[in-house]
Amino acid sequence: MEGRRITGRAAVRQAALADRAFIEDLGKRTLGDSVAHFRIANQVMLEASYDGLLDFVYHQPHLALIAECGGVQAGFLLMLLTMPDEVTRMPQGFVAYMAVEPAARGAGIAKQLLAAAEDEARARGLPYMGLMVTEDNAAARAVYERAGYLTERRLLCKPL
Ligand SMILES: CC(C)(COP(=O)(O)OP(=O)(O)OC[C@H]1O[C@@H](n2cnc3c(N)ncnc32)[C@H](O)[C@@H]1OP(=O)(O)O)[C@@H](O)C(=O)NCCC(=O)NCCS
Repeated sequence: MEGRRITGRAAVRQAALADRAFIEDLGKRTLGDSVAHFRIANQVMLEASYDGLLDFVYHQPHLALIAECGGVQAGFLLMLLTMPDEVTRMPQGFVAYMAVEPAARGAGIAKQLLAAAEDEARARGLPYMGLMVTEDNAAARAVYERAGYLTERRLLCKPL
């Protein structure tokens, strides 16, 4: 994928079992973008954490979406369907992770994946979307802010 620009309009479809390798690989290549600058992190721990996230997602009701450009996988979104807001217990679609191939970024693919996830959540009667995003992750924050997401609460950390 490196060096080859993925172009063309994306089509979004539900993921199949055969997409799991792509979801694992792209997730492990991008998880570093969710690490705050003041956190010490190493790739081995990040990958273990991502394996744990996938295990968690795949063992409960979820939706996995794939964006494809010209038959090439360009991005994915994982949404939990039974992860209510922890304070109000209101049901919501919870975006567990989303990523787009570096070679396909800036073309609206994340926006398309998110819109498709919202349509699926609405169709299931879920009244909200929820997710967590790292403050330092400017690209992800921009995607969500442009799509109308509001900051609801903050996760704090103090390096000791
Ligand atoms: C975050 C990510 C999914 C964005 O994917 P993308 O396909 O490039 O995003 P889009 O092209 O759909 O952009 C949607 C909007 O966000 C804006 N945006 C995207 N990346 C941006 C950036 N780096 N800086 C500023 N704005 C950005 C776009 O301009 C666009 O705004 P518009 O609707 O007003 O045109 C991608 O950068 C990625 O995979 N990052 C690594 C994984 C990650 O951090 N996932 C999020 C975990 S919460």
